[in-house]
Amino acid sequence: MTTATKITYTSAAGDLDEFHRLFEEALDRVRAAAGTTYPNLIGGEPVPGATKPIDDRSPIDTSLLLGRFAAAGPAEVDLAVRQAKEAQRDWGKQPWQERIKVMRRAAALIRERKYDLAALMALEVGKSRLEAMGDAEESADLIDYYCGQVEEANGFVRPMGRITPIERNTDVLRPYGVFACVAPFNFPLALSTGMSSAALMAGNTVVYKPAEDAPWTGLRLAEIYRDAGVPAGAFNFLAGRGAEMGDALWQHPGVDGVVFTGSKEVGLRIHAGISSRWIKPCLLELGGKNAAIVTASADLDAAAEGVMRSAFSLQNQKCSATSRVYVDRTVATPFMERLIEKTRAIRMGDPTDRDVFFGPVINQRAVERFERAVAQARKEGTIVLGGERLRGGVFDKGHFVAPTIAKLPLASSLYREELFVPFLAVGEVSGLDEAIAESNAAEYGLTAGIFSADTKEVERFFDEIEAGVCYANKRSGATTGAWPGAQAFCGWKGSGSTGKGGCGPYYVAQFLREQNRTVIDT
Ligand code: UN1
Repeated sequence: MTTATKITYTSAAGDLDEFHRLFEEALDRVRAAAGTTYPNLIGGEPVPGATKPIDDRSPIDTSLLLGRFAAAGPAEVDLAVRQAKEAQRDWGKQPWQERIKVMRRAAALIRERKYDLAALMALEVGKSRLEAMGDAEESADLIDYYCGQVEEANGFVRPMGRITPIERNTDVLRPYGVFACVAPFNFPLALSTGMSSAALMAGNTVVYKPAEDAPWTGLRLAEIYRDAGVPAGAFNFLAGRGAEMGDALWQHPGVDGVVFTGSKEVGLRIHAGISSRWIKPCLLELGGKNAAIVTASADLDAAAEGVMRSAFSLQNQKCSATSRVYVDRTVATPFMERLIEKTRAIRMGDPTDRDVFFGPVINQRAVERFERAVAQARKEGTIVLGGERLRGGVFDKGHFVAPTIAKLPLASSLYREELFVPFLAVGEVSGLDEAIAESNAAEYGLTAGIFSADTKEVERFFDEIEAGVCYANKRSGATTGAWPGAQAFCGWKGSGSTGKGGCGPYYVAQFLREQNRTVIDT
């Protein structure tokens, strides 16, 4: 007899002993299946790669080869886009209710398979058990939430007014065609599912490229869609290296739109390049440099806990992670004491172990980025905690670096650059004015948090902060933990492109274009 558990990034309800038992069984199953070779999936058929296969290694232990994935090149991209185009004719013509049925089945399958999916993500990208399960649960909730959006809008079919008595007018939203969907490693299931399910339920078909560091989770998603009844060709899976096939994918003339989550640099390039013949939809979610503000009236324990959790869960590799703090000078010392104490208490190690909170970063490049940031911080300010690569025992097997806190002068470029490694910059400010001005000085505008007991300060923060996902006094995570239907995840400025975010009420409509239908009665 199993008791249901529900785990998000901020809460865990249910029988946790049973959760851990089931998680361990799933880990064994995933480990036993490791080492297999996988092809691409195009039009439902296995297709070999074009170049050297991708070795999918665990960042926890790089000697663990999880799988070997055929790497697509431009020829496979072309084949996949043509298959997607072909499949779109039928898929797009199905009544929307049919597509919603299929997508809801996919959500149910994710819930059925959630332990295996979470265990795989823990091994493939180094998530803790709770973070990994949050990712799986979020994926299922995303699909259901988006399905609700389509249902609520009656499939986006809407009667319009008339200007003569003999006309009947209807507004419908129709699919664009083929979407290229390019996903990052950090939420390998939730972000892949969120982007692709919205595209699919809107009647588009998809050519999907998972992150180079997480192809196995991506393949699992392809299997879920297939088992749910998404027709062959409507969802095509291409493992590949960005440098070898990324451009070929979004530049393909048969691609009608792009949905991408990843770096600002790549996102800007896609946005600038995709609309050469006409303007194509380009939905981008592009990272952040998210600030937490701690005012003089803040509950310092809540602030320190919220910052610690958002700075160091998933090793800061979330677009939503807190990577800088602006603390009022008058409370800086007691705040720092608490923050350091809580960060010292973090359990580091193999994140597939029961109580480990903090695991490895994704790859060697991330370790190098961390080391560069630390070297710069030592020159410009003080490293107050961490600053080193972790060594000894389990740490020698993977990409482990210490949770790091640096006190830096406000002019440091480390307050502006997205690093995506566990490096937190802390600066002292004279008050809320300076904190908001500093926060807004970054090019990014994704999430932001404030800790203050003063409701006027909180209101000012909401009014003046340039960010789409804003939190006040969130002890469970100063700037992280957005959930479908609860927090829309909209990036402002350099963090996004459309002004409407995933997890939010306006998401699915962005995958559709309007057609008005006027019929004159005869
Ligand atoms: C991301 O990291 O790209 O709010 C998005 C959160 C997560 C963020 C996922 N839902 O912390």
